[in-house]
Amino acid sequence: MTETKPLLRALAGEAVWPPPIWLMRQAGRYLPEYRALRSGVRDFIALCTTPDKAAEVTLQPIRRYGMDAAILFSDILVVPWALGQGLKFMEGEGPVLPPIRDAAGVAALDLGKLDAAVAPVMETVRRVRAGLAGTSTTLIGFAGAPFTVACYMVEGGGSRDFATVRAMAYAQPGVFATLMETLVQATIAYLDQQIRAGAETLMLFDSWAGVLSPSLFDRHVVEPTRRIVAAIRQRHPAIPIIGFPRLASTMLPRYVGTGVNGIGMDTGMDPAYAAGVVPASIALQGNLDPMALVAGGDALKAEIDMVLAPMRGRSYIFNLGHGIVPQTNPDHVAALIAQVRASKA
Ligand code: CP3
Repeated sequence: MTETKPLLRALAGEAVWPPPIWLMRQAGRYLPEYRALRSGVRDFIALCTTPDKAAEVTLQPIRRYGMDAAILFSDILVVPWALGQGLKFMEGEGPVLPPIRDAAGVAALDLGKLDAAVAPVMETVRRVRAGLAGTSTTLIGFAGAPFTVACYMVEGGGSRDFATVRAMAYAQPGVFATLMETLVQATIAYLDQQIRAGAETLMLFDSWAGVLSPSLFDRHVVEPTRRIVAAIRQRHPAIPIIGFPRLASTMLPRYVGTGVNGIGMDTGMDPAYAAGVVPASIALQGNLDPMALVAGGDALKAEIDMVLAPMRGRSYIFNLGHGIVPQTNPDHVAALIAQVRASKA
């Protein structure tokens, strides 16, 4: 069957123009309808594991704006939670986990718990896919890439520089390799289930990839991503995969060898540089500064044109360079989508 959904055409290497558009964190606190639904739920994990609510939140931005993709409403930290590591989202502080610092902490993770724990997420995927029937909107499933998930598991939450996990990778290479192996296995199983439930493409978020040295980037970003891509492709040859090696900068050429079908560019990536090192058979995605979207007006208009210009004539998906922030005015999102869709080839 010839692909007709714009996002899937771009991921097949086609230069689609105007480009398909969706936004990282497009479901979230900047939308009044999200805040209304969120205020009625005990905590964030409960929201991610309540299929009717998670499906509703996934579809909210699609109803409002008609993006070319819906991204499953969940979180990258659902995987450590499903492996038995504690997880709490503190109001205004972000995620908090009991940190893993040694072999015993890694050994306590239980791959056997994963399937049952993520069953509600699969139900969300099924409901969203049904809700998108008859539209040209593509359903994106996702997971955190192993290194970024390990960052939160070892640090016990967010961090300014991820010093503990980076030192652990050097000082306890065996322990860290076991943690990464557990995450590779968990990620493959979790993504495989998302596809079977109805996800049409996948994205791997490696938000902290660029804090590593080039040698560790090869070992803990490129290699695990390559293995996950190969395992998923073997089972589901037609499902494209997007990688997001945030902050990779000039390590980007190393990432091309992972086998992904699309690469997300972060805010600081020069699109002209990326277009020079990523072959047109791999779609580029990104990378409007989320703060230009906060600002709106003429500054936003000019920045959108700057992002689009070097992408004409190649496979490309419009997005931000990182997630939408809560203070974003929803009207600015509407203006962004209108401008991208009016863009002439
Ligand atoms: O709309 C979407 O993009 C889909 C859902 C989604 C969320 N998180 C929802 C969320 C996705 C794809 C993510 C990915 C994610 N989560 C990443 C990778 C992308 C990135 O931003 O770098 C990371 C690192 C996380 C971990 C995480 N989740 C943090 C650090 C936080 C706290 C900070 C914050 O933004 O609140 C979260 C919470 C979170 N994940 C929220 C949402 C909508 C806010 C929770 C709330 O409503 O209270």
